[in-house]
Amino acid sequence: MSGEPHIRKVRPDDLEEVWRVHVASSNDLAARRGRPTARPADAPVASDARAGLASDPDGYFCAVEEGRIHGMVSALVRGRVWYLSMFFVLPGDQGRGVGRALLERALAYGEARGVEVRCVWASLDPRAQARYVMAGMAPRWPIYRLEGDAAAVARLRARVGLDARERELPCDPAAAEKLTAEVFGHGRADDLAYWRSDASAALAIERGGELTAFAYRRGERIGPAAGLDETALLQAVAAAANAGGGGNVTVRVPGACASLLEALVGCGFRIGELAVFLASRPFGRPELYLPSGPILY
Ligand SMILES: CC(C)(COP(=O)(O)OP(=O)(O)OC[C@H]1O[C@@H](n2cnc3c(N)ncnc32)[C@H](O)[C@@H]1OP(=O)(O)O)[C@@H](O)C(=O)NCCC(=O)NCCS
Repeated sequence: MSGEPHIRKVRPDDLEEVWRVHVASSNDLAARRGRPTARPADAPVASDARAGLASDPDGYFCAVEEGRIHGMVSALVRGRVWYLSMFFVLPGDQGRGVGRALLERALAYGEARGVEVRCVWASLDPRAQARYVMAGMAPRWPIYRLEGDAAAVARLRARVGLDARERELPCDPAAAEKLTAEVFGHGRADDLAYWRSDASAALAIERGGELTAFAYRRGERIGPAAGLDETALLQAVAAAANAGGGGNVTVRVPGACASLLEALVGCGFRIGELAVFLASRPFGRPELYLPSGPILY
């Protein structure tokens, strides 16, 4: 790519091409870091990426030259929080300012919406880290991808018990929204409705008549989950892990969730890819929120 890229909003009929940029760039990054590539080059568009365009069509941009899309960025606004959802430039076009031009537009979208906090779930790519630090975000903690097999999930079940006052029950949508508002600072009703539509399990924990935590499970992935305290969060995650009938589960755990991280690794969950959470300033109760994944947080 040469000269200034043309940046414009992503339209619904661009989603397929934009997703190709995402997959090519993230597979190249995985190869550079000596990790297996996560997705085949022709993987279908993730439904989370469609949800992002639906909720924030004015925060989704692409860089175009000669009719081809070379880079993309997507930002979401949830209450006072700006979250950078996706940011990818084609491998051959990186390091030439395309990312800078894209990120400027995504940041301006947040400014226009009056956000107070900027944050991102970042790869370890130095170009990405440089862009985020220069946009006023500071590294806060790593995010660990953890994978548990049936034996690890069984150990988790044995370790995390419920006492006589506690029980597990199906999660009521309003309860998930209330807990999310308490720990994230915004109820995220639309996101929760989308996650629920995609969920294979939605569980809550009750203690002495009070709802203390919830967790959603989507296929093998656990999250989002939130709790009033770290014990309740762990109980909800353990319940969701066991809801799948003994198969493998994947959880992405922020370093802020120290007791959840310790319990999962202690039960034999294996640590895979590491990422970094950066934020312009701390917000909410990060030790009590388990994100849904990198695209919607
Ligand atoms: C992250 C990404 C989208 C940025 O786009 P880009 O077009 O490569 O970025 P730019 O060229 O605009 O900016 C890169 C910046 O990193 C800086 N940089 C590069 N290597 C650096 C290093 N080791 N230390 C410090 N700064 C570094 C460059 O100097 C440049 O800053 P400048 O514009 O002030 O000179 C792109 O590199 C990419 O797709 N990477 C792989 C996928 C990925 O990790 N995406 C992020 C997911 S969270």
